[in-house]
Amino acid sequence: MEASRVLLEYRSVWKSFPGVIALRDVSFDLRDGEVLALCGENGAGKSTIIKLAGGIYPAGSYDGHIVLDGKEAEFRSVRDSEKAGIAVIHQELALCQNLSIADNIFLGHEHIKGGLIDEKATELAAAKLLARVGLHEAPDVLVGQLGVGKQQLVEIAKALSKEARILVLDEPTSALNDEDSAHLLDLISQLKTNGVSSIIVSHKLNEIERIADRVTVIRDGQVIETLPRQEITEDRIIRGMVGRDMSHRFPSRCAMIGEELLRVEDWTAFHPDDPSRKIVKSVNLSVRNGEVVGLCGLVGAGRTEFALSLFGQSYGQNISGRAYKAGLPISVRSVRDAIRSGIAYATEDRKQLGLILGADVKFNVSLAALQRLVSGGLIDDTREWSVAEGFIREMAIKVQSAAAQVSTLSGGNQQKVMLSKWMFTDADVILLDEPTRGIDVGAKYEIYAIVNRLAEQGKGVVMISSELPELLGMCDRIVVFAEGRVAGEMPTADADVERVMQLMTKGSQT
Ligand SMILES: Nc1ncnc2c1ncn2[C@@H]1O[C@H](COP(=O)(O)OP(=O)(O)OP(=O)(O)O)[C@@H](O)[C@H]1O
Ligand SMILES: [Mg+2]
Repeated sequence: MEASRVLLEYRSVWKSFPGVIALRDVSFDLRDGEVLALCGENGAGKSTIIKLAGGIYPAGSYDGHIVLDGKEAEFRSVRDSEKAGIAVIHQELALCQNLSIADNIFLGHEHIKGGLIDEKATELAAAKLLARVGLHEAPDVLVGQLGVGKQQLVEIAKALSKEARILVLDEPTSALNDEDSAHLLDLISQLKTNGVSSIIVSHKLNEIERIADRVTVIRDGQVIETLPRQEITEDRIIRGMVGRDMSHRFPSRCAMIGEELLRVEDWTAFHPDDPSRKIVKSVNLSVRNGEVVGLCGLVGAGRTEFALSLFGQSYGQNISGRAYKAGLPISVRSVRDAIRSGIAYATEDRKQLGLILGADVKFNVSLAALQRLVSGGLIDDTREWSVAEGFIREMAIKVQSAAAQVSTLSGGNQQKVMLSKWMFTDADVILLDEPTRGIDVGAKYEIYAIVNRLAEQGKGVVMISSELPELLGMCDRIVVFAEGRVAGEMPTADADVERVMQLMTKGSQT
């Protein structure tokens, strides 16, 4: 294994954007038959490295050399890179939701017969690829009907259809549950033995520990070190990433848990496309001042739907049940109602719902609470600036200034902007849906500290997370969802992992 051939090599690569040097003298290599992980904090430069290999930033837009099979690769486009056998699955999924699985896989290189798409050949070829990635779905199913885990497998099938020898995955599991992640990682390992080498970027260091043959650590656009297999442990990677050991993963909190702040009774929500199908079933939940309540459950257990329905979003018409704020009934028929009732929801899906990517950081931060910035009928620009700059400092958002366009921020830093937006509202009930998805270990700590501060201010926080250790580390109480219902709840102090897991899967076993 050690002596295996170098497939792809970066030699002294530099890449800048206006005002930012994203990569400085980056050199590393990917060898034949290995999984190489790139690890580093948010904004370190990982996605930029990947976009160079993928032809998104063409030759000429960077300095240095990218060498494939010993020859200088000068990709001018994504197509060039694909032709050379590199398939990149980017941080945000790029499938067409309203096309079938088969059509997505062969988009851009369709099977043509007599000038038309040959449906039969397409479906047959797709079926073979689906079997290879272990996805048991018919090729004509619309991608929009699949969960993210399955969509990720479609992405890989698509990559394989192009006969990729190098698979590059940018945070492929960040939106997946444990089971789907495990399946994906197994697939990557299995592909390795079939001659497909991979580069993977992930903030889930336990996964890296499990799957990577080597880890290249990036910090501030530079390669810090490359760890061989035997040195790959979570703690060791963290030390490389942040430049020191991190002994505590969770900051301590001294919040007083007070009166009941929010109570929801018999809360039922229906599927937006199928009004006869309940997706949240008679949920009862209460949150007190200063309390952090964790909602755990498998993907599809109804946690996000519950939070969205409480936030008056999309399910607004079809809800039954009662909600009370500090003992008084409230109505949350729309987002506006919810915000007025002091409820904020930070979405798990920042691209769809959370941010206006084309606008700057300051606009995005103030968006949900513009009224707080109005003085004499006008928006107070100076204050808008100082609020945004304040969050940039407090959340350690890596950006040049509050005037930077959000689309130019790295994924994790976009996430922090979205959280800032909800921090800035007056809300006293804060629903956080996967708040640390795609966030590096150091920044997670900062986000936990902010959650603590909110609780210390007497707010009630509801935190949805697929990472059980995070809920156990952060919450006062855990509520387990299974199949749209509350399957059980307990103070975190009494929670044991096995019991929680049992409750999580209870719904699907009966
Ligand atoms: N199009 C762009 N214009 C300006 N700056 C950019 C652009 N793309 C990336 N950057 C900057 O380059 C740096 C590296 O970003 P990159 O997206 O590669 O980080 P990353 O390591 O992938 O982070 P994350 O873990 O948050 O996804 C960041 O400072 C980012 O703001
Ligand atoms: Mg990235």
